[in-house]
Amino acid sequence: MGSEQVNLSGAPETMLATLYLRALDNRSDKPILGDAQAEDAVRRIDYDYSKFRMRARQAPSVAIRAKALDRWTEQCLARQPDVTVLHLGCGLDTRVWRIDPPASVRWYDIDFPEVIDLRRKVFPERDGYETVASSVTEPGLLDRIPDDRPVLVVAEGLTMYLSEEDGLGLLRGITGRFPSGELIFDAFNTFGVKLSNRFNPAVVAAKAHLEFAVDDPSDLESAVPGLRLVAEWQFTDAPELDRYAWPTRMLLQAMGRIPVVRRMGRMLHYRFGDASR
Ligand SMILES: C[S@@+](CC[C@H](N)C(=O)[O-])C[C@H]1O[C@@H](n2cnc3c(N)ncnc32)[C@H](O)[C@@H]1O
Repeated sequence: MGSEQVNLSGAPETMLATLYLRALDNRSDKPILGDAQAEDAVRRIDYDYSKFRMRARQAPSVAIRAKALDRWTEQCLARQPDVTVLHLGCGLDTRVWRIDPPASVRWYDIDFPEVIDLRRKVFPERDGYETVASSVTEPGLLDRIPDDRPVLVVAEGLTMYLSEEDGLGLLRGITGRFPSGELIFDAFNTFGVKLSNRFNPAVVAAKAHLEFAVDDPSDLESAVPGLRLVAEWQFTDAPELDRYAWPTRMLLQAMGRIPVVRRMGRMLHYRFGDASR
């Protein structure tokens, strides 16, 4: 049993479910992420993960999403290595180690104080990397981040926990502060939000509540001045879908042909300012 005590509820607690699924992925014969640090963190935290009723077969869902965002992050950093990365709602994700950005990158992991407190206990420090203990909706948060460089915003499993007003306010704050940038994050449509509030084991067990839905990615272009949609990616596009047993894979592929289901959760990539390099 781990030695780090946790007393979390609501949205912050859900990060223990995604952490646990990354650890389960690491235990599989053919891991997608191969995140040994997640496994180590799971062991160090005193928490009853069985609360989420999650099985190894569910691990690819989180690992595929994380892998897709890792790929996009690497591509963005390859195009523009002198950026400030804001990893919002980072939870206990080890993306900064998986990506291992060059020294030219300044990387901030941001989440609620109770999450960052735990993060600092289970993960080491590294050069060019800082954690910020704050809600992403905290007024003044962005003023604490230097605005002298383009920004790369990465947010996995965060937007749906915000209210629409807070989500749009955050995006407007980012495009208003930095000279240019790229934003990559996942978003649920209204159907995905409703379904997750009722049936997502992590959301239900943690008594969290999802709110912000993006039904059409171009809605954000209209709501946030300067934001331009670059790409969208659906879960069923993932090359790693073959990690599912064939009945699940066929079910997912069949579901992927129903538009409202296909768009339940998707990855979005936007740019603003002169970030076209
Ligand atoms: C499902 S977890 C995902 C965590 C991590 N990104 C991952 O993939 O493992 C949701 C995360 O969003 C964070 N979160 C939700 N609302 C937030 C807010 N207003 N400010 C900062 N973090 C928030 C939670 O604390 C939690 O860490």
